[in-house]
Amino acid sequence: MRAMYDWLFDLNIFKSKKKEKLSALDFSCLQTDIHSHLIPAIDDGSPDLETSIKIIKEMKELGYKKLITTPHIMSDFYRNSPEIIRVGLEKLRHELKNQSIDIELNAAAEYYVDYDFEQKIGKEELLTFGDNYILIEFSFLEPPRKMFETIYKLQMHEYKVVLAHPERYPFFEKDEYKELKEKNVFFQLNSLSLIGYYSKKVQEKSSYLIDSGYINFLGTDCHNLKHSNLYESCQTERLWHELVASKSLLNNTL
Ligand SMILES: [Fe+2]
Repeated sequence: MRAMYDWLFDLNIFKSKKKEKLSALDFSCLQTDIHSHLIPAIDDGSPDLETSIKIIKEMKELGYKKLITTPHIMSDFYRNSPEIIRVGLEKLRHELKNQSIDIELNAAAEYYVDYDFEQKIGKEELLTFGDNYILIEFSFLEPPRKMFETIYKLQMHEYKVVLAHPERYPFFEKDEYKELKEKNVFFQLNSLSLIGYYSKKVQEKSSYLIDSGYINFLGTDCHNLKHSNLYESCQTERLWHELVASKSLLNNTL
């Protein structure tokens, strides 16, 4: 009986160690955020200029020096174009200047991979950031039918493919992650995955991807003030510290 109590005690120690909060490590080591929805009213992100400004002020406080915001481009729901995004970006930059908020703001897009997207590759302008990185996302229900063909096609057109939040796709397990990395796909983890915001399973997958050295970028994927209010709690999370220690992040190269 004693042995069993000892075992339970050890188990609790392990859990409490896992939950232990560390001292805050702010996001200034990243410099740049590469994923957010801050251009007002063109997708499911910020609804208006006022909200965007509030979020950007918070992100500046968190240590970011530069934001690359990435509105959804999705043929069914968000039929955005480079032109629509550029117009929204200029309005937002103008307001930042009016309010003397000193932060660099650029825009790319988060492309939903479907038939329409695949048709655009090599034919239409696609918005990229940094060294021709393109941010893509998949359905959360199933992988795209031509997933590897689409990735290959993008790479043949000199794009560096960054998969948004790989930890959130329920159909991906270790073998799929390995295969995507073998195909030179860059992985962008969401900040809120570090604190278990989406689910325990997503947090566990995040831990696995960090341990494997697979994460190339951290992104906020910020849609609203509810999200931005939670980023501070990421800074004391053990997984965030482990991600920085892994030295696999490229945010500060942008
Ligand atoms: Fe997103």
